[in-house]
Amino acid sequence: MNFLMHILNILEIIEKKRDKKELTKEEIEYFIKGYTNGTIKDYQAAALLMAIYLNGMTKEETTNLSIAMANSGEILNLNSKGKIFVDKHSTGGVGDKVSLILLPLVASLGVPVAKMSGRGLGFTGGTVDKLESIPGYNVEITIQEFIKNIEKIGISMISQTGNLAPADKKIYALRDSISCVESIPLIASSIMSKKIASGAQKIVLDVTVGNGAFMKNIEDARKLAKTMIEIGKLANRETVCVLTNMDEPLGYAVGNNLEVIEAIKALNGQMPPDVKEVVLELGAYMLKLANLGDNISENKKKLLENIKNKRALNKFKELIQNQGGDVSYIDDISKFPKSRVVLEVRARKSGNVMRIPAEKIGKLACFLGAGREFMEDSVNDSVGIVLNKKVGDVVVEGDVLAVIHSEDSGKADCVRDELLDVIEIGEGNFEVKYVYDVDGF
Ligand code: URA
Repeated sequence: MNFLMHILNILEIIEKKRDKKELTKEEIEYFIKGYTNGTIKDYQAAALLMAIYLNGMTKEETTNLSIAMANSGEILNLNSKGKIFVDKHSTGGVGDKVSLILLPLVASLGVPVAKMSGRGLGFTGGTVDKLESIPGYNVEITIQEFIKNIEKIGISMISQTGNLAPADKKIYALRDSISCVESIPLIASSIMSKKIASGAQKIVLDVTVGNGAFMKNIEDARKLAKTMIEIGKLANRETVCVLTNMDEPLGYAVGNNLEVIEAIKALNGQMPPDVKEVVLELGAYMLKLANLGDNISENKKKLLENIKNKRALNKFKELIQNQGGDVSYIDDISKFPKSRVVLEVRARKSGNVMRIPAEKIGKLACFLGAGREFMEDSVNDSVGIVLNKKVGDVVVEGDVLAVIHSEDSGKADCVRDELLDVIEIGEGNFEVKYVYDVDGF
């Protein structure tokens, strides 16, 4: 009898969304509760998510979805001796190693960091997969250990462990396997549920825009930013969104340990210009929200100083060691495992690099094994693509455009041909903007 009522309900909810009707708070809560405890099946959730993807949600539905997802588990109430917790999250990108650099950096300036990250999603990478490429690093600690770590060293970075927003954990993995990622209500609720559950009082969001982002144009990115700012307001979490460029991959490396290596170099002072601009902008707002300085350009100077004096690097090492990672890899990046095949891609003509489409680069990195095709797939730590040129650079025929790291020479050849097709070389000089806009102030 119960079973029949349950089937009827979820079917009615799917039908309603399929027919472009608005779901009530109770229906959304029913779905989240049922999917989290397993009484609603993957195929039913997949149907509803696809209906949401196709037909959207009102602001009210999106807020109710975010709160229901946050309430699917524990909500942490962090308090670190009067200090303000400021969290950071990206809406996703290719080559996005910002969290690995920025979070130890702000922690080294006294902002407590309690960061719950995700795995790769669609063609984008995930911080958790990157952290796991550091031998020994444990992303799956208990909530008690998470809190203890923050009290001890001021920073912890974990995956969606235990009982924090468990609904998002399931929905995130399911969306990834049914091509249901690029949706404003689904992205907003995924991010805000995690941020609300992990206890930060204030939030800085990197809303990526362009070819390698889920939001392909600035109007959609603004809509997503506004949606998350409103959810933040309702949940009493001050939220600032920084809109950043994701037309080409961020930095040079795309792939798990390849990006960790780039992040370690950045913490040693070698930061690619685009990574530097994004890290400083987000970091300056994190310091402002933490009441550690109102002046954005002064805040950027403080951040740069802690790169220069190695405090940020030392905080990163402390973080890695504290969560079981082998810090000798941070001291000596040549220790990271390498792929069997390392293949250079050389330019067939001279000119300026006009375009490096980030989505395609992300998909090629996934094809090499850096991301997943199926929910249960594991990722390969060492494969990926390291660019040698960025948009705007001058190229002479025969120059190395990129280096492919692969376990399979057939795959490497295939990726080389694709890269030569998609990296555009032409005539023209232009300036690339890395940070567009800040919303929420
Ligand atoms: N990051 C998330 O946590 N969720 C999304 O849906 C997209 C990016």
